[in-house]
Amino acid sequence: MIHAAVLNQPNQMLDYQQVALKKPNIGEVEVALKCAALNHRDLWIVLGQYAGIKYPTILGSDGVGEYEGQPVLINPSVEWGSDQRSQGPNYRILGLPDDGTFAEAVVVPKMNLVPKPEHLTWEQAAALPLAGLTAYRVLFSRCQLQRGERVLITGIGGGVALLALQMATAAGAEVWVTSGSDSKIERAVALGAKGGANYRQAGWDKTLRADAEGFDVVIDSAAGDDFGKLVGLCNAGARIGIFGGTAGKINNLSPQIVFWKQISILGSTMGSNADFEAMIRFVTQHEIVPIVDAVFDLADINQALQKMQAGDQMGKIVVRIC
Ligand SMILES: NC(=O)c1ccc[n+]([C@@H]2O[C@H](COP(=O)([O-])OP(=O)(O)OC[C@H]3O[C@@H](n4cnc5c(N)ncnc54)[C@H](OP(=O)(O)O)[C@@H]3O)[C@@H](O)[C@H]2O)c1
Repeated sequence: MIHAAVLNQPNQMLDYQQVALKKPNIGEVEVALKCAALNHRDLWIVLGQYAGIKYPTILGSDGVGEYEGQPVLINPSVEWGSDQRSQGPNYRILGLPDDGTFAEAVVVPKMNLVPKPEHLTWEQAAALPLAGLTAYRVLFSRCQLQRGERVLITGIGGGVALLALQMATAAGAEVWVTSGSDSKIERAVALGAKGGANYRQAGWDKTLRADAEGFDVVIDSAAGDDFGKLVGLCNAGARIGIFGGTAGKINNLSPQIVFWKQISILGSTMGSNADFEAMIRFVTQHEIVPIVDAVFDLADINQALQKMQAGDQMGKIVVRIC
């Protein structure tokens, strides 16, 4: 038996309880977990706002731990398939439907394990997999970010957004950000961003245009009513990478701006095994250290989820397991 944080019913917080760990199938192994990390996905699932929710499930997509005594990091993309352009029909994200990492141990395909980058602590490594994979694919595989290009990353307090800032800066891009918090913009500037604007203030897009002119690449996970403003901030030939919809549907997009400026809007989700391996190489080469906002014990996982719901984090919320 192991301790785990289990989603047992709709619209309820998680139960910290003992469960039996499933037996590994062929090609699967058991990893003794040291740390996990939260993603917004976990909160969407707890709130009942996610497709395919089932009960009971152990949530958690990010995990680091030990397999046969070696430190390993888990790729949360399960069975992506062979097509680099998109995931195949058997694709799953660890932590629903398969049991995930908010537990003392997890069973995953052996091929999803990579050695933990040596420059990261357990906590920092746990902050990397899902957010790092998503950030890497949207920036490089989808938007083909080039050195010297000007990038706008929205909602910089988010786990993916912050890793995208670190990666884009390391790749030699000029990065600007938006946030609902002035202090988060200041912290982003300290991490290498050139500047930013507060999306809660009227005219934030005009401020950005005045300060930064236009953008070659925009990385967005908010969508919603402000998406049209992002398109307006694009240079001709720009690429917009979108991987989330935190602010809801896009209602006010002007098609004329999209086609006249030859703008590409590129959806992106997680990433393939090749993306994951490239991400780990990039993070190791540039010694990127994910920003950890807070660390909670596994037994206190609901406090961690409440912190994410409050939205005051800057970076990743990590769960220490043992
Ligand atoms: N497709 C995929 O593979 C994939 C992967 C990961 C995440 N996602 C999605 O991407 C989103 C972010 O995920 P996460 O795990 O990084 O979340 P997170 O760490 O909880 O961060 C969410 C961030 O969203 C930003 N935000 C909220 N309202 C906004 C608005 N109106 N305009 C711009 N930004 C806004 C906030 O930034 P500030 O605090 O700076 O205001 C907040 O920090 C979620 O919707 C998630 O489901 C998708």
